[in-house]
Amino acid sequence: MTQDVAAVVLAAGLGTRMKSETPKVLHELGGRPLLQWAVDAAQQAVAGGRVVVVIGEEARQAAEQLLHGQASFALQAERLGTAHATLQARQPVSGADRILVTSADMPLLRPETLRALIDTQRRNTGPMTLLTAHSETPRGFGRLVRNEAGDVAAIVEEAHTTPEQRLIREVNVGAYCFRADWLWTSLVELPLSPKGEYYLTDLVERAVGGGLGVSVVTTDDADEVIGINTRDHLAEAETALRGRINRGWMLAGVTLQDPATTYIGPQVSLGADTVVLANTHLEGKTTVGRRCRLGPGTIIRDSQLGDGCAVELSVLEGATLDDDVEMGPFAHLRPGAHLMRGVHMGNFGEVKDSTLGPGTKMGHFAYVGNAEIGADVNIGAGTITCNYDGEKKNPTTIEDGAFIGSDTMLVAPVRVGKRARTGAGAVVTRDVPEDSVVVGMPARAIRRRKVRDGE
Ligand code: UD1
Ligand code: CA
Repeated sequence: MTQDVAAVVLAAGLGTRMKSETPKVLHELGGRPLLQWAVDAAQQAVAGGRVVVVIGEEARQAAEQLLHGQASFALQAERLGTAHATLQARQPVSGADRILVTSADMPLLRPETLRALIDTQRRNTGPMTLLTAHSETPRGFGRLVRNEAGDVAAIVEEAHTTPEQRLIREVNVGAYCFRADWLWTSLVELPLSPKGEYYLTDLVERAVGGGLGVSVVTTDDADEVIGINTRDHLAEAETALRGRINRGWMLAGVTLQDPATTYIGPQVSLGADTVVLANTHLEGKTTVGRRCRLGPGTIIRDSQLGDGCAVELSVLEGATLDDDVEMGPFAHLRPGAHLMRGVHMGNFGEVKDSTLGPGTKMGHFAYVGNAEIGADVNIGAGTITCNYDGEKKNPTTIEDGAFIGSDTMLVAPVRVGKRARTGAGAVVTRDVPEDSVVVGMPARAIRRRKVRDGE
């Protein structure tokens, strides 16, 4: 259906106002490059049509890596303006009937809005449709000049406005849909602007001058219009994005105690009736189940949480929590930590590359690394898996129902059998058989545990 539309994303500008060694379109918003946002939106808008990014030499390699397979590229070797940039994409989009043109520095444009542009242009007998907005702070935007009848007459760049035109509050957002044949023939005929650039916006005057109608789609979502020219704009967009994401989750049934201090990344997903408390950051590819309670003061990055988990004042990175896990305050999970159903992890603990079985408790001051820990194990305060011998990481295994006394050092590789106990301060250098008790340094067996009936 939309196969006949191709998208061109302009991304070759120098972005000098960012004062950065990094090309503007590679600066990040919500943890992803601006270019990625623009390409995602364009891709959704043209639903299966081609997406071509016009890029400069310095950003080309990084952009190709970022978007591998998602878009193709056209190089703009000289920065001769937005019209010249668009023309560079002519070859890669040839054959398309309509061309959507957007800018990589408008990251909050929604696919729905771009689709509205395309749909309007489909019905338009004239050659182009453009997106406008009404803004009380039209800084830097081209102004939409209308004639007495209210029809579109021209776009005047801010630098070239008369004092009267400067007062116009209808601005050119910088997204357009064109009839392809008209676009390609008209682009090459545009005059050079006084600034020495070819302006895409001059196409409006050209169409109107030729007696052709220019259609307008207007957005009333002020966030969409935030273009990034400076780092100040970037911070503004960050706040706007956060508001958009947070509102979305509240509508989906998630309670946010304080949206202004809640940071939820664009790739995060949350289940209904989860509550997120103040100062909480959910980042990367994180999924959270239903009825969880996260925060306050918590960072969760690239982690998977089941239903009914509670995490207070803690940091989780690359971790997995099954249902009903309770953590914190002040707990730290590092990559490969897997806490199974009903685990309780209290304050000042760290778990890395380890599994804690269902119902296991680790209340206070412990380090567990490279360990397989069974169900219903009690890990006493101050327990440490001494997993690193200076050269390599060694594994620790603790079987179901074991009881690890306070301040036990488990010198890996080592295994503690089912229901075994270690005394307070034990330094365990050898495997501990099941149902036995070991104490001291190095730990030695003092007795078998009471054997239960029938064993
Ligand atoms: C442009 C519009 C302006 C509009 C505003 C909205 C023109 C002449 N002006 O101004 O009417 O209100 O966007 O954001 O189009 N680019 C290239 N190659 C170039 C120049 C620019 O690829 O030679 C790219 C930039 O990377 C950017 C986009 O085109 O993504 C817009 O360029 P920018 O310089 O930011 O234009 P504005 O001054 O914002
Ligand atoms: Ca811009």
